[in-house]
Amino acid sequence: MCGIVGYIGEKNCVPILINGLKRLEYRGYDSAGIGLIENGNSSIIKNKGKVSVLEETVSTLNLHAGLGIGHTRWATHGIPNEINAHPHSNEKNTLFLIHNGIIENYQTIKKGLQNLGYNFKSDTDSEVLVHLIDSFLTKDYSLSKSVQLALNEVEGTYGIAVIYQNEPDKLVVARKGSPLVVGLGEHENFIASDVSAILAYTKQVVYLDDGELAVVSKDGFTVKTISDKEIEKEIHEISISLEEIDKGGYPHFMLKEIIEQTESVRNSMRGRLLVNEGTAKLGGLADVVDRLVNSKRILISACGTSWHAALVGEYMFEQFARIPTEVEYASEFRYRNPIIEKDDTVFLISQSGETADTRAALHEAKNRGALVLGICNVVGSTIARESMAGVYIHAGPEIGVASTKAFTSQLIVLALITLLVARKKSLSTSEGKKITDELQKLPDKISEILKLNDQIEQIANEFKDSKNFLYLGRGYNFPVALEGALKLKEISYIHAEGYPAAEMKHGPIALIDENMPVVFIAPKDSTYEKIVSNIEEVKARGGRIIAIADDADGEIDSLVDYVIKIPRTIEMLSPVLNSIPLQLLAYHIAVIKGLNVDQPRNLAKSVTVE
Ligand code: M6R
Repeated sequence: MCGIVGYIGEKNCVPILINGLKRLEYRGYDSAGIGLIENGNSSIIKNKGKVSVLEETVSTLNLHAGLGIGHTRWATHGIPNEINAHPHSNEKNTLFLIHNGIIENYQTIKKGLQNLGYNFKSDTDSEVLVHLIDSFLTKDYSLSKSVQLALNEVEGTYGIAVIYQNEPDKLVVARKGSPLVVGLGEHENFIASDVSAILAYTKQVVYLDDGELAVVSKDGFTVKTISDKEIEKEIHEISISLEEIDKGGYPHFMLKEIIEQTESVRNSMRGRLLVNEGTAKLGGLADVVDRLVNSKRILISACGTSWHAALVGEYMFEQFARIPTEVEYASEFRYRNPIIEKDDTVFLISQSGETADTRAALHEAKNRGALVLGICNVVGSTIARESMAGVYIHAGPEIGVASTKAFTSQLIVLALITLLVARKKSLSTSEGKKITDELQKLPDKISEILKLNDQIEQIANEFKDSKNFLYLGRGYNFPVALEGALKLKEISYIHAEGYPAAEMKHGPIALIDENMPVVFIAPKDSTYEKIVSNIEEVKARGGRIIAIADDADGEIDSLVDYVIKIPRTIEMLSPVLNSIPLQLLAYHIAVIKGLNVDQPRNLAKSVTVE
């Protein structure tokens, strides 16, 4: 959720903080602020709205500081406004704090502090932290000790960065449940909630783990646990480049990421296909493959789009690996006391690797002794590090809030895992080869689909004013219907629902009239005849139909109002291709409506609160 960036060093940190916040804006964008300390002076600048508003304010002031922190907010407690924006400060304006997460016991702490005479300005939970730390500073503890003592009283989640005018040679950060990295430079160091904020300045980072606190100076850093144990940290080299996190001339990250799928899908498979043997090689699973193959059951837990990928995974695992598979919303998983056995495998799928609900599911599964495997995009992310083993999807940085290329890459990785397991069980080499052959053909087929962009834009124009949409698919493409509906909802604010096509007649059919566009995902697979019957049922009731169909399908044209014809592939891989026209449809409708595609209202890219 909220984005955090900080700098300590010999340069003026103001442009560094503003640039960092712009990179982090996909994490939250309702208000932003910076706090600076220089030569015994401190200043805070905060604005409601996007980082551009803050940037404008900052440009009118002549600010210079070698120590500073910046924050872009996704509101949890307190409406988006200037007062609730971070940094929060103590009464004397000498102590600044930024926070990502939720302090669950803030009401209790607040009352205690109010009894001590502390006044609160904001409605946020975060403000208690700054006063709590101040209460220890006034007892002559150092900044780092005060932070440590304060955090011992706190329940909830946090990634925090704190600076103090009386100790201008350090920046103190700590995390529990919200990501934080320390970036290392020459006579300068950085902190951030994710590496994209500091990638322009350094590629050397240290990932903090939960319960750790770092004291960062311009020439070094130390890390200890909140309970005061010194820790040696490993330095990691970031492999992503700045170009990968730039828009690269595209009007929106979402469009860039949709178009990148030819490459991202290729990258997800690169070096992982053993074509002659009709199987896959996944280094990240090498040590656990026997346990995975012998699992009695597979559970997949995830949220949002990653949950839709999980549903496709369920079809794959059950059809080919013949292992009973269940998919569960991560947010529900831990709260229903799930039955997890030691011979179960639990996969967690997460693009960001930071989603709080998915992390909670991971911990639940680990505590119960299952084999816990992560499927993540962001290298070094918390879920990737906390899983016992896993596979990176290698889709490259995904900045658009609406997940696109990560979804198709998750499907590829699920197909590779299926192949690996199924071939070790009963799938023959020739059956495996059919899958590897088709996997290899996907990038070219995606290029063909992307050529349909203009046609899809025209369809978007026809339907831009619709108030509701229904998306229907069967089998492997039922999750694609869910995903198509989610894409439309989140960026165009049009109500849309995905259903298994046959379920329509059990209720949703009542909604169908000439104002209801129905999107059918209708490849010529084992469910085609049934889907055609469903199309007829909608048509008989005056619904307007858009179909995604195979390019060789000559029948469907006369049945539907609009048809988007795409290359054919095998059933298990058809969700990879079918989801792309739906991404483009949602994208164009949102653009035509003049909406902010990359930063849809109320959403954030990485949901680090439960
Ligand atoms: O980073 P994750 O994959 O764990 O994120 C899960 C969801 O928050 C995410 O997929 C969300 O639904 C996207 N906005 C969908 O486009």
